[in-house]
Amino acid sequence: MISVIGAGKVGATTAAFLMMGEADSKIVLVDIVEGLPQGEALDMNHAAAILGRSVSVTGSNNYEDIRGSDIVIITAGLARKPGMTREELAAKNSEIISGVADQVRKNAPNAIVIITTNPLDAMVTVLYNRLKFPRNRVIGFSGVLDSRRMAYNASRYIGISPSSIIPLVLGQHGENMYPVPELSSVYGKNLKNFLSEEQYSSVVKDTIDAGAQITNLRKFSSNWGPAAGLLVMVDAIKKDRKTVVEASVYLDGEYSTRGIFAQVPVVLGKEGAEKIVEVDLTQEQKEKFNKSIEAIKSNLKQVPSQYLG
Ligand code: 2OP
Repeated sequence: MISVIGAGKVGATTAAFLMMGEADSKIVLVDIVEGLPQGEALDMNHAAAILGRSVSVTGSNNYEDIRGSDIVIITAGLARKPGMTREELAAKNSEIISGVADQVRKNAPNAIVIITTNPLDAMVTVLYNRLKFPRNRVIGFSGVLDSRRMAYNASRYIGISPSSIIPLVLGQHGENMYPVPELSSVYGKNLKNFLSEEQYSSVVKDTIDAGAQITNLRKFSSNWGPAAGLLVMVDAIKKDRKTVVEASVYLDGEYSTRGIFAQVPVVLGKEGAEKIVEVDLTQEQKEKFNKSIEAIKSNLKQVPSQYLG
């Protein structure tokens, strides 16, 4: 059983992708708004009947319905509204995530928990502190999205499918992420070698700006990419695939970093984030990685201290 908390655009699209991908026979969608998750679930059950998917989707306003979940995906939280500062967003979402964490700890204490709420690196930290689950079971989403966005951006220049590119984007999920085409590859050949200087710069820039580009165009943030990325992660965990994807995980000495969530490649299997893959970085790359870590630390400063204890 998989539960999705939050029936907004990201949550509902994720539940739909999980249904279409038959990630589990039972999906529960929870939201505080009465009728919303129930209506989404009914519509999705109709879609499943049309497509012949053996999946039942349940909508609920009650956290007790997440009991028995192997995986809980948290998409709850606000997006930044005009006039709202980052600090205000961080404070509000910390409060929301702490409340959700209490419910998850109570009702699904053995679940692997994945969160998408922004500011991602800060919110996964709030979640981890509150849940007190082992680090392999608390995972921040977005590495799959950032790295595949980079593969997509490069593919448009080099005429090779994004799926044949192994991309690497490290550190923060946000404007200080560190895309690294020189440590990305096409069958062992350095991705940077396929790109002109100008193309390299635009691949990096478009990767960093991707989320903002979507929001600027349509006035609300991404949902299709996140839902697809979550399906890949859930599938890897449920089927114990040992797939290497990028995710935001608690670093405990890896990448010479301790006590910080940051995105790095991890092995996903039935235990969650089972292993961190440490890529060798040059001195210059380490400095860029550390700059991204500093940005995460400054995001954490926006979180009221009661959520970080
Ligand atoms: C994205 O990168 C907004 O975090 C979201 O699309």
